[in-house]
Amino acid sequence: MPKLKIVPSILSANQDRLQEEINEIEDYSDLLQVDVMDNKFVPNITPQAELLKKFNTKVPLDIHLMVKEPSNEYIETFINSNKKLKINNITVHYEACRNLKKTLEFIKKNNIKAAVAINPKTPLDAIKDILDKVEMVLIMTVEPGFSGQKFIESCMSKVKELRELRPNLDIEVDGGVNDKTAPLAVKAGANVLVVSSFIFKSKDKVKAIKDILKSVKQNV
Ligand code: DX5
Repeated sequence: MPKLKIVPSILSANQDRLQEEINEIEDYSDLLQVDVMDNKFVPNITPQAELLKKFNTKVPLDIHLMVKEPSNEYIETFINSNKKLKINNITVHYEACRNLKKTLEFIKKNNIKAAVAINPKTPLDAIKDILDKVEMVLIMTVEPGFSGQKFIESCMSKVKELRELRPNLDIEVDGGVNDKTAPLAVKAGANVLVVSSFIFKSKDKVKAIKDILKSVKQNV
């Protein structure tokens, strides 16, 4: 299995002191997730590409587009928004893209890793034919839209099956990940853990990250 990665999602960070909150956790983060919502694919909205103008970080970004039919032009606005930032991957949803292959190819053409996400109710079968086209798969463990929801443990069967199919693929989980649920995800085969409220709602954010790593080490 590839290396374990901790990916704080800035969705539940204090947006008024976003830069300070990012500074606090930077040294303990492998990637930083930026959640983008359009109030169409999900019932919530965030700033779009201008989000990337609100902070700087040395940590490469994981951009999770919870957006219906993201066009090439739309994706380009993220790529061009803040040239000081490094974008590691752009993740699009299977459920939101009519021409998923073309969207993934466009992301890769820009030298950015392409990832696909599936919602809790979407079966793994839906994306089996495009596994060779992606560098990461995100198995959502909550319905996308809001942080602070409960981890849906039944999604672990998809993680297990995918890990058996692709021993070296980055498999990401997102939603309800904390020091109790992280070991369940890693045991199933996930190696990229997105965590928002457990980190950003903690008094000591670095301790929250260390607690997750400790719990994984002790329980997996
Ligand atoms: C859910 C987002 C998640 C969310 C996770 O729609 O994609 O990244 O912020 O939040 P927690 O970790 O609080 O469940």
